[in-house]
This record gives sequence, C-alpha cells and structure tokens, in this order.
Amino acid sequence: LYTIATFILLAYLIGSIPTSVWLGKLFYSIDVRQYGSGNAGATNTIRVLGAKVGVPVLIVDVLKGFFAVRLAYLAPYEMAGSSFVAFELALGTVALIGHVFPVFAQFKGGKGVATLLGFMLAVQPQASLVCLGIFILVIFISKIVSVSSMTAAVSFPFIIIFALENSTPALTVFSILVAIAVIVTHRKNIRRLLKNEESKVNFRKKEQ
Ligand code: G3P
Repeated sequence: LYTIATFILLAYLIGSIPTSVWLGKLFYSIDVRQYGSGNAGATNTIRVLGAKVGVPVLIVDVLKGFFAVRLAYLAPYEMAGSSFVAFELALGTVALIGHVFPVFAQFKGGKGVATLLGFMLAVQPQASLVCLGIFILVIFISKIVSVSSMTAAVSFPFIIIFALENSTPALTVFSILVAIAVIVTHRKNIRRLLKNEESKVNFRKKEQ
C-alpha cells in the first residue's frame, strides 16, 4: 500500500483543496473565480469577500503546501530515506500542481504563491522567511500583490545560490523552476501591469 504513487496522489489531493472556492460558496454562495481577478486564491478572496474569509484561505493554502511536504515523514525509510529532500520536493511540487489545477474545482485553481510558501517553509525555512520579508516589503512599497509575489519568487533562486550555506544543486535547479512557474501563473497579471490596469491593495479602510 505504501507506494510512492499513493503519497504523490495524497499530496495532489491536499493541494487540490480549493479553499477559496469552497469557503466563498459556503459563506457567501459566491465562486470567487467569477469576480475580481478571477483567481482562486487568498488575494482575490480578500479582494472579493474581505479578510474574514480571505485570511483563513491564506492560512489553509499555506498549510496545504506545508503538510503535503510533511507527508514524507510518514513514508517508510526505505522508500524516502535515500533521497529524502528529493521526495519532499516531489510531494510539494505535486501539491502545488494540485493547487493550480485542482481536481475538486474544474482544474481552475490559484497561482500557487501561498501553497508554495508553505511548501518552502517545510523544506527551506530560512530562505522562505527571507522571501516572505521581501514580499511584505514590496507590498508596502508597490501596494500590488502580484508584483510582490513575483519579486519574492524571482529572489528565491538568488537567495538559494548566493546566501544559503547548505544549498544543493537540486535545490538550486528547483528554485529556478519555481521562479519560472510563478511568473507563468502570473502572466495575466503581467499583461495588466503593462497596461497599468493591475489593482492595488487598499491598506486603509474606506471612509463611508
Ligand atoms: O498570489 C496571487 C497574487 O500574486 C495575485 O493574485 O488575484 O491579484 O491575481 P490576483
């Protein structure tokens, strides 16, 4: 029963949980993909339904990535022991694919940033926390979530290559692929940014 395929399938199913779609439908009878940016992610849930639903979406989406990677600890040693990090990276990647292409939501999911954060926190916490810091800094400067997501993702391989002492070639290659994947999932955002149409975050409450 403990085959690699079982673990991979489980990671995909965890990643596939469409938190924003399900919580939006549960509390507001709304599919967030029909509003705002059309994305099934925490940012768009906050945009469409507010922080009350959006923040739980963010937390669950981060946890999906984290726990999918942690599945590796449940695998028998002979299965994952020899290349544990590679197994963790495989589980996280599959969860990420599940988040972007969820079987439970017509394969129309999010852009992977929150799930990627959870995934990376499980594999490489130091580099992930630096990326989180970059994300927060850029969002305060630009007030645009997609710009912050892409800047953090593109910074990731540079941190792995130049700042991390115990980096491995596998992690370096992986970090480059991650940066490319995040740019690809943000292609519509890039188009909007070029046309100056990307929406900004409003940190202050609207005065009524
Ligand atoms: O994590 C997704 C974020 O970077 C962009 O989301 O809804 O503005 O396209 P959104």
